[in-house]
Amino acid sequence: MAAFARRADRAGYGLVVSPTFEDVGVFQRLGESTDVVRKEMYELEDKDGRRMALRPEGTASVVRAYAQHRPPLPFKAWYVAPSFRYERPQAGRYREHHQMGIEVLGTDDPDVDVEVIALAAGLFAELGMERVSLRLNSLGNEECRPAYREILLAYLADHRAELCDEHRDHIEVNPLRVLDCKRPACLAVTSGAPRMLDHLCDACRSHFQRVQAGLAALGVEHTIDTGLVRGLDYYMRTTFEFTAEVLDAAQNGIGGGGRYDGLAEELGAPPTPGIGFGLGVERILLACDAEGVFDAPATRVDVFVIDTAGGSTALELTHALRDAGIRADRAFDGRSMKAQFKQADRSGAELAVVAGPDELADGQVKVQSLTSAGEELVAIGDVVEHVKKRLDR
Ligand code: HAM
Repeated sequence: MAAFARRADRAGYGLVVSPTFEDVGVFQRLGESTDVVRKEMYELEDKDGRRMALRPEGTASVVRAYAQHRPPLPFKAWYVAPSFRYERPQAGRYREHHQMGIEVLGTDDPDVDVEVIALAAGLFAELGMERVSLRLNSLGNEECRPAYREILLAYLADHRAELCDEHRDHIEVNPLRVLDCKRPACLAVTSGAPRMLDHLCDACRSHFQRVQAGLAALGVEHTIDTGLVRGLDYYMRTTFEFTAEVLDAAQNGIGGGGRYDGLAEELGAPPTPGIGFGLGVERILLACDAEGVFDAPATRVDVFVIDTAGGSTALELTHALRDAGIRADRAFDGRSMKAQFKQADRSGAELAVVAGPDELADGQVKVQSLTSAGEELVAIGDVVEHVKKRLDR
């Protein structure tokens, strides 16, 4: 999360912290035909009888905040937000998960699409993840999608009997959703279905070409996936998804996003284009584990303070060391000398500062190496400087 925050900050994004629950209407704009709204949203009634919902994702809240506060454009926001979906819990799929996301409102320049996608790709590379792939598609816009929707609907209606149980009777609600179905029955039908990319209007085609050229210029590898429609209804034009090859196929989407040029208007703002992504923190951690990306931290602290005199020396010395910028820790609960040394070893500290009654009587403590032999008596007032030198700072 720290790496993500640094990356977003460097690219001019500001932190937005949105409420965990809001009026249910904010999220209904995600589309009544999406599972996220229809089946998975946690809804509750407050004491005044208002219908509220726990945030299922981050985009709607940021766009609602934009509509309400109208910051100057382009408005570039980043967030890390707990999100709630009533799904069947399993590895990589949780009822509460965390998303790291960015949103840009106020420009439909294809360079922004490239900036957004490259920011996520750069983060995965910075984390050391090597087995991540990026799929890209364009869903067209209000110019070209309605006509394509009719063409697709006619095709699916011709093959209705061959579709899976879930989609057979629901193609009229949102025929594009069938393209997302991974069941063999639907796949057999959709593999021959008309493709949105073949029906883009000139403006959308040129937008999509410029996004691809921009990604190529930055060396962001990707494949085109004409079946990528994503699970939320607000998308148009560019959509994309990152998958981790090391995770099970059902939960290997580690992040995704796209353009939602019509959403701001639906939430009460003037027409304002927008694009963003959400990355699943838990899934990224699972993928990092599976790739063996993170080394165990070698040390947690540099110095461990051991106090067997029972006074306030440990409290004061640990505080003084930390104030001087040194990573320091100590034991609590008046534990035995042996137990404190054990804890010091586990902490990975290089040095122990030992305050026993005999040394303290002379205004001194013992500074000893935990990795080699050697100890020195040091006046209490000189400990911080002494430790700094020993740690070579
Ligand atoms: P989403 O694809 O629904 O997009 O979620 C984004 C990411 O959150 C997924 O790729 C996945 O990694 C993670 N995720 C989703 N549900 C779960 C879950 N139940 N358990 C664990 N991880 C999960 C969105 O939510 C959009 N708001 C993204 C966006 C931002 N589009 C434009 N701007």
